[in-house]
Amino acid sequence: MEKVMKVALLGFGTVGKGTYRSLTVNAEEITRRTGLRIEVKKILEKKPEAINSGVAPVELFTQDYNEILNDPEIVAVAEILGGREPAATFMLQALAAGKAVVTPNKALVAARYEDFREASEKTGAPFRYEAAVGGAIPVIEVIRHSLWANHFNKIQGIVNGTTNYILTKMDEENMSYEEALRQAQAKGFAEQDPTADVEGIDTANKLCILMLEAWGVYIPPTEIPRVGISGVTKADLEAAAKDHCRIKLIAEAEMLPDGSVKCSVKPTPVPQENPLYGVRNEFNAILLRCNMADDIFLQGRGAGQDPTGSAMASDLIAVCVEKACC
Ligand code: HSE
Repeated sequence: MEKVMKVALLGFGTVGKGTYRSLTVNAEEITRRTGLRIEVKKILEKKPEAINSGVAPVELFTQDYNEILNDPEIVAVAEILGGREPAATFMLQALAAGKAVVTPNKALVAARYEDFREASEKTGAPFRYEAAVGGAIPVIEVIRHSLWANHFNKIQGIVNGTTNYILTKMDEENMSYEEALRQAQAKGFAEQDPTADVEGIDTANKLCILMLEAWGVYIPPTEIPRVGISGVTKADLEAAAKDHCRIKLIAEAEMLPDGSVKCSVKPTPVPQENPLYGVRNEFNAILLRCNMADDIFLQGRGAGQDPTGSAMASDLIAVCVEKACC
């Protein structure tokens, strides 16, 4: 007989729906693999179009966070509200109450990592954020555990789906920057304010998290040298193509021999021989240059409902497994 673990979702926008779908579409598979039945008990959401979307039963919805926070049956909370507040307060309250927290909120994790880490350590409540970097790509898990025995010499990545989509459409279909951005917004890739995407802020947040994971070094996103893609023209793309390159918004970090870290976010001509050259549309990819394993290249969908929902659901399952065994 499987054990039932109850969780709550805070927010039911694009990623909230994807998280719910991953948990329900694959419910039997999840139970077979974990021995657990993960049940979404409550969803915090007030927007009628989300409540009535038909994706989740209306009786799951509440507008009162205390119903979730004070429910001892709920062992984990998925923060998918976005923005800074009330997301941060809700997460800290949940961790203080001993509930696990998972989030795709890269801006918040990058800005307040230490607060969440401390809160999680205090009560022992797990805190996970796989969906914050690279959408569906399990890059945090790979850096943290799968490549435990390695030192990372360098990290290079395309970690923003919106900008990669825009650059691909401009390059391959001669689409205008504005039209490509409109499409990325319509597909649910872009942030509420797409300035964060196109000016490289979102990429800097994700690079900050990658550097924390790889080296335990915290460089605030505001201190990462950053150039966005709003100044990239079709002429730039054509000139790069003549040199057998494609311009990509590249996040890069390197540990120098003196132990310091050099990092940047900027449009960069990527040569054909680099695997990042072939990463198109909303796909993301991360190239980890390791001292033992050599190069590891991870690629997958970096944005969108189901891919990001998959990473969120996997984090929820992981924390439930952790909680179920202790
Ligand atoms: N706006 C982000 C992107 C969403 O385009 O990659 C996923 O983090």
